[in-house]
Amino acid sequence: MRDIVLLGGPGAGKGTQAQILQKQFGFRQISTGDLLREHRNHGTELGKAAEGFMKRGELVPDELIIKMVEGELRDDAGVLFDGFPRTVAQAEALDALLESRGRGMAGAVYFQIDRASLEERLLGRWTNPRTGRVYHETFNPPKVAGIDDEDGGPLVQRDDDKPETIKKRLDVFEAQTMPLVAYYQHSERLAAIDATRPVDEVTHVLLHVLGLDHGH
Ligand code: AP5
Repeated sequence: MRDIVLLGGPGAGKGTQAQILQKQFGFRQISTGDLLREHRNHGTELGKAAEGFMKRGELVPDELIIKMVEGELRDDAGVLFDGFPRTVAQAEALDALLESRGRGMAGAVYFQIDRASLEERLLGRWTNPRTGRVYHETFNPPKVAGIDDEDGGPLVQRDDDKPETIKKRLDVFEAQTMPLVAYYQHSERLAAIDATRPVDEVTHVLLHVLGLDHGH
């Protein structure tokens, strides 16, 4: 199965879709944001080094991220890269890494969505910190407010989902990650989807562009 990069701004729905595809198709989701939060919660060296950048809504330095992803990559199922790569240097490193492991080059799907919608989604997001499962208080609410439908545990709001940090993350995305759209377009590896649609419609289109919609 081919490796896929989910490319899009903070709150575009990458994590939401990655979890659906992971369950249905046996992909493995590698979310650099979730991995960093795990490191931070366990107080590892990497977690300590990353904490300040994350709190400020800035990117964690490329070399730390690339090393972390390298350690996660096993020769198993196709991977959904969620929140990685985020800079051209990371994209080049991923191409080299996959090539050195004898995997084909990853394809990329760009989640197209406006800035106002991203802000609205991040402000209403609630997350299960143990499983990474995400909800939205209006668009995708849990059955009981503040409680995960699956494991019954409490949901929390991420500490970088505050208005001023959201603004910073969106600025960082536009300056440092948007160039990846051209990077993947150049090598004809990019598909763009309308990420403003409801969750199930986005899944439908995503499966179609990935050629996974037979029988669904
Ligand atoms: P990270 O955790 O990757 O955050 P992000 O990119 O900002 O992405 P999000 O998790 O916020 O959004 P998402 O697209 O997954 O949206 P979601 O599905 O949750 O990164 C955090 C930090 O870590 C960074 O700021 C940086 O410091 C660091 N970092 C991570 N990776 C790095 C890297 N590679 N290099 C350097 N630094 C790195 O959905 C959002 C909300 O919308 C939810 O509430 C959801 O329920 C709702 N929603 C989803 N889809 C829909 C829909 N179709 N309709 C309506 N609502 C929807």
